[in-house]
Amino acid sequence: ISLIKRLWKGRVSAGMLSLRLQRAMKEYVNSNKHHVSYKGNRKPTQSAKELLCELKNQARLRTVDGLEQPFSSLGWARLVPSLPLEQLYKKENKRSFKTCAVVTSAGAILRSRLGKEIDAHDAVLRFNAAPTEDYERDVGNKTTIRIINSQILANPRHRFNTSSIYKNITLVAWDPAPYAVNLHKWYTSPDYNLFGPYMEHRKLHPDQPFYILHPSYVWQLWDVIQGNTEEDIQPNPPSSGFIGILLMMALCEQVHVYEYIPSMRQTDLCHYHETYYDAACTLGAYHPLLYEKSLIQRINMGPVSDLERKGRVTLPGFSTVNC
Ligand code: C5P
Repeated sequence: ISLIKRLWKGRVSAGMLSLRLQRAMKEYVNSNKHHVSYKGNRKPTQSAKELLCELKNQARLRTVDGLEQPFSSLGWARLVPSLPLEQLYKKENKRSFKTCAVVTSAGAILRSRLGKEIDAHDAVLRFNAAPTEDYERDVGNKTTIRIINSQILANPRHRFNTSSIYKNITLVAWDPAPYAVNLHKWYTSPDYNLFGPYMEHRKLHPDQPFYILHPSYVWQLWDVIQGNTEEDIQPNPPSSGFIGILLMMALCEQVHVYEYIPSMRQTDLCHYHETYYDAACTLGAYHPLLYEKSLIQRINMGPVSDLERKGRVTLPGFSTVNC
């Protein structure tokens, strides 16, 4: 719990993790699977405003638009949705959303009774296979956008083509390319093969908005985390949670994030919908989660009491930040 209290203050280091998680972290640093070589500088003492402006300017939301090789030759310019994600909701509402909720899948959201509060937002973002059915009281039942990693598309266990949780919403998929963002290499050897299922789904359901995040966006987010952290972070992409938070900051005027930075309900229960216990889900092993969370707490504009009781962070949308 002392580590959680440090997170509430935004001051953390790998040395606060259990030895098991420290060892796992070191193995990921040593294997450097995605060939990360960070060339930027380190400025870990930026103010919240400077940090917000860096995120706004450096990490521009970008999806695969089919205009680059090898996607252009494969006809992706006509396969991807005709409206870019940034414009999708502007057309319908004349502007992007006012209030948005990002609901992480952490076990700590169980027994929170946050469902009504979450559903009162204009848009709600959820992750991967996290259900709402049977959990409405704690997580709500509205879903506007779902971010899915490539395993959801590649692994038949998730029943991506038939499960109702992926229908009637906007889908945003991602998969880590090599750090140098070689799209040819990415296309021939993604982490999990999302391209086939994506093309098939686009052809079957051309009216459902379904995007793939550009890998340069994912690694730009990683660069900002490393650039604002003194320690060497894991050379692996940020978690879906961090990506989703930044995505919603690009689409909304205000963003509430639930149980990303853990509340007093903090638990080793990995997901609210599964009986699997592992502290790595909350504190990170593969993903640089601890550092992501510290960064988010540094730009949190809500009071600590919101963190304690609701696990809630309040962030400004980029359109409201004047840099
Ligand atoms: O596990 P999954 O990636 O589907 O969960 C969605 C996101 O919720 C994670 O990427 C992570 O950012 C966040 N999460 C968390 N603590 C947990 C489980 C998930 O912060 N215990």
